[in-house]
Amino acid sequence: MKISYSGKPDIQIIPSFTAIKGVDKKLFKGEAGESLIIPTEKKLYLGLGKKDKLESADVRATFAKTAKSLMTGKYSKIGIKWNSALNKFSTEVLEGFMLANHHVAKYKTGKELKKENEKLIQELIVPKELKKESGDIVKVAEAVHYVRDIVTGPPNIVTTDYVANEAKKIARAGAASIKVYDKAWLKKNKMGAILGVNAGSGKKGAKLVVLDYKPSGAKKAPIMLVGKGLIFDSGGYNLKPTKHIEDMQQDMAGGATVLGVFKLLKQLKIKRRVVGVIPLTDNMIDSDAQRPSDIVTAYNGKTIEIRNTDAEGRLILADALAYGVKTFKPEYTIDLATLTGACVVALGDRYAGVMGNDKKLIEGLVAAGEKTDELLWELPIHKDFKEAMKGIIGDIRNADNGTSYMAGSSKAGAFLEYFVDKSKWAHLDIAGTAYVSKPKAHESQYGTGYGVRLLAEFLRAL
Ligand code: BES
Ligand code: ZN
Ligand code: ZN
Repeated sequence: MKISYSGKPDIQIIPSFTAIKGVDKKLFKGEAGESLIIPTEKKLYLGLGKKDKLESADVRATFAKTAKSLMTGKYSKIGIKWNSALNKFSTEVLEGFMLANHHVAKYKTGKELKKENEKLIQELIVPKELKKESGDIVKVAEAVHYVRDIVTGPPNIVTTDYVANEAKKIARAGAASIKVYDKAWLKKNKMGAILGVNAGSGKKGAKLVVLDYKPSGAKKAPIMLVGKGLIFDSGGYNLKPTKHIEDMQQDMAGGATVLGVFKLLKQLKIKRRVVGVIPLTDNMIDSDAQRPSDIVTAYNGKTIEIRNTDAEGRLILADALAYGVKTFKPEYTIDLATLTGACVVALGDRYAGVMGNDKKLIEGLVAAGEKTDELLWELPIHKDFKEAMKGIIGDIRNADNGTSYMAGSSKAGAFLEYFVDKSKWAHLDIAGTAYVSKPKAHESQYGTGYGVRLLAEFLRAL
């Protein structure tokens, strides 16, 4: 969507806290949630409710809803009549509107596809006072849409090669260096945990993508972002049943989010060095597939008892984290992963889980999420959970026996902590927020792009 500062809109949004002179009060009083289109006048009256009760998340949602209501194919240029009470919410107004302007029917063809594309709004006309911030917001919304498309995309198209190629494109455009390591390199570097997960995937490759954004003058110790890039999670021999397996192409959302952030680093002029590490593989079943009771050796030399082949995300993250902290010695390590069903049960789609070993880092992430309405809720890593993840014949195990449903998200976090050494680290479990069947106002169905805005905000605030 283009933003412009003058022109004649197909329809003008008129936000208001009160009734409007000449408009029937039965139809519009300016209350929150009200919206009245008068096509003959090319106007949409939008109720904002009580001025002193206006909250940023509500403003974002209101404008997102309005955008969706206008995505019928009839309107391509939309104007907003500015109300000075919106000045402090200008980011939310633009963001809500732009985030909503997206569709998921990318794999439809012919007329059907054309119809979906024509529903998108092409141009938003706003006052020129918003020029300064609007450029960045367009970029941010594009990055969120980009992540949604990758997460929603089918796993026979969005393959390891596909994601690695996207990473290359992003590196090229975003002034980051990139390395895409293949299976031979993973073997040479003894990344037994990623290779174990990949073992049943036949010709489908395993890769480790490493991006490095190093703006001039940045200090050496980077912020490291590690994203789970599991192309399709069948569960492996602990096969997922019907109703749990269908949407498991979403399991690379953590990796896609890291790509979305890298798309933005140069555009938002982030001043810190940022390293991105994305382990990529499927979790499939053939005669070479990993079995429960196998033991693998991770990059840091620790042996892992495979108790459940469906707890594969923590395995690929184990190698990626251990490699990343050793190679880059980051100031902060943040990983993102659709890691546990337990997190979906605990927090639903409203909060992602956050846990880690550094209070300040967690507080910074929570604060960024409050600003962008990508909320985080801290879960504990009790030492008993670390204990529960210890192995009996090996060092640790990827699932504890029998009781893995108890504090499942925390135990996954406890497992990961064995691989971050002394790095200040936070883990975001985005299993409930990265992919939804019931989207919120600013979201699309399926991939949400959750986390891109949060991390961009976190990096900006550093
Ligand atoms: N990818 C799943 C987690 C998931 C579930 C993501 C639902 C999105 C929606 C993960 O690999 C997994 O299967 N975790 C297991 C762990 C268990 C075996 C210890 C789970 O949550 O059941
Ligand atoms: Zn799994
Ligand atoms: Zn998974």
